[in-house]
Amino acid sequence: MKNKPYAVKLEKGKTYAWCQCAGSKNQPFCDGSHEKINEKENNLIESLVDVNMITSKGEGQRLIAKDEKPMIIKAEKDAEVNLCGCKQSDNAPYCNERHLSI
Ligand code: FES
Repeated sequence: MKNKPYAVKLEKGKTYAWCQCAGSKNQPFCDGSHEKINEKENNLIESLVDVNMITSKGEGQRLIAKDEKPMIIKAEKDAEVNLCGCKQSDNAPYCNERHLSI
């Protein structure tokens, strides 16, 4: 993750997986790291439940880990785009200059 966009070329008809979890070593694209992040979060929640640090408030009230996964982009045309690197853009996966205020 970095606080500026990644300038990349997208090829018409190709599909890309933009990393949303910030854990990928292949930024700005997914390398599957979100699976380990999801597993860690779920294991942490399970362990907190086991030691009663999280109390159940009834059905449907249980804390659930965020399910991180990449955002799929299908390129409609060949294009050079700025993909968000800070993961804070309101126009993800594209940079909207939000990184300037972080
Ligand atoms: S890198 Fe520009 S908004 Fe994220």
